[in-house]
Amino acid sequence: MDNEKIFNAKILIIDDDVNMMDILSVILNKYGHTVNTFTEPVSAIEELKKNKYDILIVNYLMTPVKGDRIVELVREFDKEIYIILMSMHKDLAPSIETMQNLDIQAYFEKSTQFDQLVMFIQTGIKYIEQLRKIKNMSLQLEQYLIDFAKILLNTVGAKDNYTERHSIRVTKLSMYFGNYLGIQKEDLEKLNLAASFHDIGKIGIPDNILLKEGKLTDEEYEQIKLHTVIGPNILSVSNIFKDVCPIMQSHHERYDGKGYPNKLKGEEIPYLARVLTLCDSFDAIVNKRPYKEAQTIDYAIEQIEQGKGTQFDKNLAEKFITMVNENREEIDKIVHGE
Ligand SMILES: [Fe+2]
Ligand SMILES: [Fe+2]
Repeated sequence: MDNEKIFNAKILIIDDDVNMMDILSVILNKYGHTVNTFTEPVSAIEELKKNKYDILIVNYLMTPVKGDRIVELVREFDKEIYIILMSMHKDLAPSIETMQNLDIQAYFEKSTQFDQLVMFIQTGIKYIEQLRKIKNMSLQLEQYLIDFAKILLNTVGAKDNYTERHSIRVTKLSMYFGNYLGIQKEDLEKLNLAASFHDIGKIGIPDNILLKEGKLTDEEYEQIKLHTVIGPNILSVSNIFKDVCPIMQSHHERYDGKGYPNKLKGEEIPYLARVLTLCDSFDAIVNKRPYKEAQTIDYAIEQIEQGKGTQFDKNLAEKFITMVNENREEIDKIVHGE
């Protein structure tokens, strides 16, 4: 028997046969694994929801809930756990189809040697380790791509310092507003990336226009507008920006349909873009540009108040104003800090 211990797995066993579970626990403990046993599926499932386990061993022929039903319920919230189904005899084994559909990795007959089960567990542990390595690698790859996009943003910053600093402030403000709105983690992450890189398309705008002091001609303004298309074009080559690009692209759309680049109207504009627009506009108003003075927070609130339902989503604009009024000091630090 291969008794090489790879890491101590956390194993949960569901079986109505207490004696069997006792024997199994003793053997698995000997190998250094942590075992928790349940005779009743409902509390076992609750436990699996609360705590992360590596391996689940389930008796297929339990009453009143059969093992495959238990697995079905577990798979609804845990796609990673390695599942071993066991039964008394091979004639009573689940079909291959059931095994595949429920992503059950192994089947064990209680009548055979426990060595086989230990082997299945060792295989499961190797599988889990591989899965974790792959997950870490793809997370690392994602981080490399985000870092690369930051390098691009720094490149814009090298010629247009305002855009880089504005992007940092808009990201902070978006996170503040996003949390205030109770936006969930996954969407907050998308908003974070969209805010960080919303103006990255300015990298493609000629310097004489981007850095022009004074009023832009209509033609120059048309060129500036292209930053909403250029940015998403650059980042869309990477899959991690797939859901972020539509938000970036819509940060100058207006609720009344008079914005750019696609003249989207109302809820056609992605929700997170409507959130971002408020933060972007607010920061632009209270900060100085070559062609305009910095305005006060009161003035910015007034502008947003006036743009309710035309430039901005009315409901979100009201929430934004309340947030600013309730948290003046912190908002002031964000828009006037780095
Ligand atoms: Fe912009
Ligand atoms: Fe902006």
